Amino acid sequence: MSESTQYSVSAGGSLYGELRVPGDKSISHRSVMLASLADGQSTIRGFLQGEDSLNTLRAFRDMGVEISDVENGVVRVNGVGIDGLQKPDRDLYLGNSGTSMRLMSGLLAGQVFDTTLAGDASLSSRPMARVVDPLEKMGAQIYASEGKRPPLIIRGGATLNGIDYKLPMASAQVKSCLLLAGLFAKGTTIVTEPAITRDHTERMLRGFSYPISVNDREVSLEGGHRLRATNLDVPADISSAAFFMVAASIVHGSDIMLKDVGVNPTRTGVIDILRLMGADITLHRQRESGGEMMADIQVKSAQLRGINIPESLVPLAIDEFPVLFIAAAAAEGETVLTGAEELRVKESDRIKAMAAGLKTLGVKARPLPDGIVINGGARLRGGDVDSFHDHRIAMAFAVAGLIAESSVTIERCDNVATSFPNFPGHAGKIGMSVRELSPA
Ligand code: S3P
Repeated sequence: MSESTQYSVSAGGSLYGELRVPGDKSISHRSVMLASLADGQSTIRGFLQGEDSLNTLRAFRDMGVEISDVENGVVRVNGVGIDGLQKPDRDLYLGNSGTSMRLMSGLLAGQVFDTTLAGDASLSSRPMARVVDPLEKMGAQIYASEGKRPPLIIRGGATLNGIDYKLPMASAQVKSCLLLAGLFAKGTTIVTEPAITRDHTERMLRGFSYPISVNDREVSLEGGHRLRATNLDVPADISSAAFFMVAASIVHGSDIMLKDVGVNPTRTGVIDILRLMGADITLHRQRESGGEMMADIQVKSAQLRGINIPESLVPLAIDEFPVLFIAAAAAEGETVLTGAEELRVKESDRIKAMAAGLKTLGVKARPLPDGIVINGGARLRGGDVDSFHDHRIAMAFAVAGLIAESSVTIERCDNVATSFPNFPGHAGKIGMSVRELSPA
């Protein structure tokens, strides 16, 4: 028996029915951070009870914020005000969560007390220079480990000054880190991105009544204002819904409805890419809630074809590529992805991890430094693939199991709970059977 959870998936019947996947991870993190800094009590509904967002929640409790238990996705946060956080008694442990570490490093650079941010083996190997360097330009004092990796020790009491910063890579985490530092900085912080990335921080700052100005790829705010508590509805996570969009597209005869999915236009690249490949996807009941767009998404099976993925869509689908590679394996012809070197520094090197698993399943895939070429259309073999402890690699290969000749076993699936608690239970609701084998 393996030391970690395994999944086993075999081809079955078509997929049908309705499903609401858990709350959006990016929005859940930000909701706890901003509600903690606000004046007054905020109620958050639809909060993701995944390990990553729960690690953020615990970190703010450790800094003296009174936060209720999460019950049926509802959590109440008694904000301490912009200057009310307290020194934690211990290091803040953020598990697998790059979003927690990058956003919190900005927020904590402006506090009067020291903090240490630590994570698991995957997070400890991820690059932090992208946040440490611009934060130092603002006046922050941060000590990182070798190669500017975690743990990060952030010295309190530094005076931060606003900067005008051009992001070297399209990263919402870095943008958000600097905006959160900017709340505590003298003057104006201006961040310009090379391409549009997810804008949840900007929308949510507005929701908490903080003045912010957005002009295409340039975002700016002035330090020294206060946040006012608000109530928030977190939509279902499009990144979790994506696994079932691909599953229903590639399993013949399927017709599913994914409820209340967040369709913020900075996140919908997966829909655009699947539609370019010939997918049958319809958005119903499009509506706005708390500054974010939501819709019910119907997906019917369709014959997919390979495409050259437009590079402009890469930042808008950055977390969905593992499962998009499975769509490419099922599609007729060649799919080419370039301009996606960021995939190499996610929870795993996702190009390497996917290329290895696809090869095991008999799919011709050629990794590129910044992407991959996949020759789709042939029947997938079954086999044993490694997820490299990466939640999205594990779920992507679970989807591959639906179209393989024999069962696909996926190793080291424990981290699926970071973003998608009870993935097998949700999958089962639309007829996708994921057998979970727990460690002995
Ligand atoms: C996130 C931004 C993305 C994404 C991550 C969540 C966020 O990272 O991959 O899962 O919540 O801001 P980058 O901004 O580094 O691309």
